[in-house]
Amino acid sequence: MQIFKEKEALKSTLEGLRSDGKIIGLVPTMGALHEGHFSLVKRAALECDRVVVSIFVNPTQFDNPEDLEKYPRTLEKDLELLQQAEENLIVFVPTANELYGQAVVSEHFNFGGLEKVMEGRYRNGHFDGVGTVIKLLFETIRPHKAFFGEKDFQQLQIIRKLSENLQLPVEIVGCPILREDSGLARSSRNERLSEQHREKAAFIYQTLLKSRELFGTKSAEYITQWVKEQFKNHPFLKLEYFEIANTKTLQTINHKTKGNQYRAFIAAYAGDVRLIDNMPLNN
Ligand code: PAJ
Repeated sequence: MQIFKEKEALKSTLEGLRSDGKIIGLVPTMGALHEGHFSLVKRAALECDRVVVSIFVNPTQFDNPEDLEKYPRTLEKDLELLQQAEENLIVFVPTANELYGQAVVSEHFNFGGLEKVMEGRYRNGHFDGVGTVIKLLFETIRPHKAFFGEKDFQQLQIIRKLSENLQLPVEIVGCPILREDSGLARSSRNERLSEQHREKAAFIYQTLLKSRELFGTKSAEYITQWVKEQFKNHPFLKLEYFEIANTKTLQTINHKTKGNQYRAFIAAYAGDVRLIDNMPLNN
């Protein structure tokens, strides 16, 4: 495993690999690695000759300084786990100034409305921060393929749009959500849950499953109301949003139209930990 802290050294190593005709894959992460991340790394290793995993807690995508501060940082353990997970990985661990230069600020993007809904509505400037860091990583690494989880489905669609807008020759690969045995989507934030909250948080997944079942016969409006009711008096979880949206546009729907694909999206707090999840409702 090779570890790089500096862009220039990484770039020249990758340049060599590219000129040897190697397919380069990128898995961007913020560390505190778990099985969800490793499913992306494994998929990338299957599809590419060399895989770069970046570990960087990106300050510009946090709208809340406390959230940034509390974000788990477990670099030594991450490196150990990566070493065991796959042979021959390249790990990129830049500082903020190394990656951004002097000014660690977001660029402003227009993602055609994808950035305005759900996470974009509740987390100010979040997707400008994500867009900025992914653009910097793409420019530095110039991967042939980049792997992202459907866990952050809105982020995945925004990154597809970003690479389309920038006309970058990178294939964006979406990977399925990995879950704990209870159904709770794996997340670095799960480590911050109390034992009780972790157990109760599986309710988020159960609600998504039930919504999918109801979607066969009920309207989107009915299901949304039903979900709100389920959370209303929940002793451990507080719903932030539940939406049924068109998979491509991410706009909320009131009525289903034949031939379109839909997904349910949810954000809820378990104590002070914010959790998100989503699920396809039809095929
Ligand atoms: P992070 O939350 O560390 O996630 C890194 C990647 O792992 C993302 O593509 C995310 O969707 C994926 N992932 C997380 N949990 C997953 C799960 N349970 N199943 C499948 N994939 C999962 O997302 C970010 O970091 C950042 O926003 C980043 C893209 C790195 C930009 O800073």
